[in-house]
Amino acid sequence: MQEKLAQLAQYRSKIIAGGGPKRIEKQHEAGKKTARERISLLFDPDSFVEINTFAGSPDLDNLQYPGEGVVTGYGTIDGRLVYVFAQDFTVAGGSLGKIHAEKICKVLDLAMKNGAPVIGLNDSGGARIQEGVDALDGYGNIFFRNTLASGVIPQISVIMGPCAGGAVYSPALTDFIFMVEKISQMFITGPQVIKAVTGEEVSMEELGGAYTHNQKSGVAHFIAKDEEECLAMIKKLLSYLPSNYLEKPPLFAPQEPPGDPLELRNIVPTESYLAYDIKDVIKLVVDGGDFFEVQPLYAVNAVVGFARFAGQAVGIVANQPNYLAGCLDINASDKIARFVRFCDCFNLPLVTFTDVPGYLPGTEQEYGGIIRHGAKILYAYSEATVPKVTIILRKAYGGAYIAMCGSSLRADVSYAWPTAEVAVMGPEGAVNIIYRNEIAKAENPQEVREKLIAEYRAKFANPYISCARGYVDDVIDPADTRKKIIEALKALAGKRETRPQKKHGNFPV
Ligand code: HXC
Repeated sequence: MQEKLAQLAQYRSKIIAGGGPKRIEKQHEAGKKTARERISLLFDPDSFVEINTFAGSPDLDNLQYPGEGVVTGYGTIDGRLVYVFAQDFTVAGGSLGKIHAEKICKVLDLAMKNGAPVIGLNDSGGARIQEGVDALDGYGNIFFRNTLASGVIPQISVIMGPCAGGAVYSPALTDFIFMVEKISQMFITGPQVIKAVTGEEVSMEELGGAYTHNQKSGVAHFIAKDEEECLAMIKKLLSYLPSNYLEKPPLFAPQEPPGDPLELRNIVPTESYLAYDIKDVIKLVVDGGDFFEVQPLYAVNAVVGFARFAGQAVGIVANQPNYLAGCLDINASDKIARFVRFCDCFNLPLVTFTDVPGYLPGTEQEYGGIIRHGAKILYAYSEATVPKVTIILRKAYGGAYIAMCGSSLRADVSYAWPTAEVAVMGPEGAVNIIYRNEIAKAENPQEVREKLIAEYRAKFANPYISCARGYVDDVIDPADTRKKIIEALKALAGKRETRPQKKHGNFPV
């Protein structure tokens, strides 16, 4: 027995050694950790259980690909079960062959069966070239499972090295993508192919680095300065999420936000053309002032992220008047719609803060399909059956008023601040249309226009018409916002709402 145990230990240590000291050193020199180092930083101490350690060639004395280039298993993060796969770049560049893919598929199957989130740590040269079509089939099997798992368990992808070619589509099918500055790269075709095909020259970082995908393409959701920060951010994200679609997110101890709620009365300028930072409002109403923003660098005219009210996790959606006046454009529509759908999948109530002058006008937006993209927000909010609370801070004009979870999209509770202006369009635009002749004929058109704008504002641009019609439940003192949201969420805790049975809707994409 002793002999057999010694042999087992020897075989196991060979696999744990991955691609060996030289390749591990190269990995470290590049500012990267190994797959096993990443796992041990991510999971609670001693909680990780590896599965299929010996998958691959049975000739353990002459291993070509220790662990087949991927470490898989499960463990706990803050005491909760989580499944993981971590590609090992030190073994054939983390390239994906048949058994590598089977190990990942098994983790995805187990995560779904046991209702636990799955995290993929990607660091790979893509399809293992030597395995040809078997590698491609492996990817296909992963994509299929990512799709099945969508909406069942949270799926988190972390890019900690190269992720190229079709391999990018597994992360793209998951809920969130994390990238690390300088070490993460995602692209369909690399710089050399691009140069050969189009003549365009672009660096790897410019093409598919962390900033490119967090700022320009919107492919990624989070950016970290190094791997440690990235792993800490993943743990924070998980703290807001339930383990699966049948559960509610974990409840935390309530925490008052720092700052005086009376400050809320002075943040939003009454002059509707003046800007302010919506995050100043959010931080004054959520637990501990702690707002975990998703896609903070992309489509910044919209703000989405997680926070808590009295310990209960919610998804927050808001317009950002500091940028493009908070207009909804193509990218903001995509950003909001995807976030709303995620929250609805995983039982996170939606709290919406509205200050929106409308959808962004212009040929660029029209040609880009703002109609198609804007429809996504309408669809996402309409389809969502989680508790929905909407607070209108200032402008709520036209289609964008509806899109920001107006009562017709089934907001359960809708409040307005006294500064709210709910109307078909802003006074300036409205007056130009409805009083065009009167202004044109006037002796002093500018003066008449100003007067009509003031009249329109007084008559229509306020919250009271909407209250009178029952579209808004009440006008509230901004200082009471947190209290009113907590009250509403408590009342909605047992909300049950259904939609017509169907195979699935045809979401506008
Ligand atoms: C087999 C691979 C590999 C691959 C890397 N390696 N990629 N082995 N299949 N796809 C091996 C290398 O031979 C090397 O082995 C080791 O991994 C480390 O690679 P290096 O090139 O030394 O590392 P580095 O200089 O850091 O460059 C990393 C890289 C480069 C940029 C990822 O290796 C590269 O360009 N690889 C090929 C990428 C690619 O075209 N993949 C196919 C994409 S198409 P040794 O033994 O020397 O250490 C695809 C289709 C998926 O993935 C379709 C899904 C539908």
